[in-house]
This record gives sequence, C-alpha cells and structure tokens, in this order.
Amino acid sequence: MSKIQFLTPAGETYVLDATPGSSVMEIAVQDGVPGIVAECGGAGACATCHVYIDPAQTDLVGPPGDLEDDMLDGTMAARKGSSRLACQIEFHDGLDGLRIEIAREQS
Ligand code: FES
Repeated sequence: MSKIQFLTPAGETYVLDATPGSSVMEIAVQDGVPGIVAECGGAGACATCHVYIDPAQTDLVGPPGDLEDDMLDGTMAARKGSSRLACQIEFHDGLDGLRIEIAREQS
C-alpha cells in the first residue's frame, strides 16, 4: 500500500495508507487529519484545502490547472511555488511517499 505523509499546522505528522484514485484531500479528511476544511467538498471552489507539496516532489505532482491556479491566487495563507489544492491532486502509486504540509490558514 502506498503511503502519504501530512504535516499539520500544529506540527503533527500523520503517515497514512493512500488509495489510488482518491484525492489527497479525501485521504486526509477520511482519516481525520486536522487542518483541511474542504468546505466545497472537492469542487475546487473554496481553497480550504490549500497545501504545500514538499519542494523536492513538486515535479512528481505537476502544476495546478488554470482554475486551480486562479483559486490559489486568493488563498489566506501565502501562496508558494509548491502550493496546490489537495482536492485537485488525484493520488496514484507514483506518488508513494508524498509529503504534504497543510497551510496554516484555510480560505
Ligand atoms: S475542497 Fe474546496 S477547493 Fe479543495
């Protein structure tokens, strides 16, 4: 089973089994990882699932799409080069070991 690691704004680390085909947001929410609000349920319309990909892994994940890119311009927490919306990243086995930092402020 592939793994994914979340670092919460409070500094806690969660290492979870990750099911291919689920979004990174769904994996976090299903396991009760604190810090991802996911207000719109994954529609890419709220930016309350703002995360930072480990900079060493951004190429694996790829860039945001156009709509996601627009949403990331309006996030409460500072946008970084590694910013993504967790609901827009579909997990696959090639992302085994992915490390995600959850943005401090979600909006
Ligand atoms: S859950 Fe709303 S944008 Fe990701």
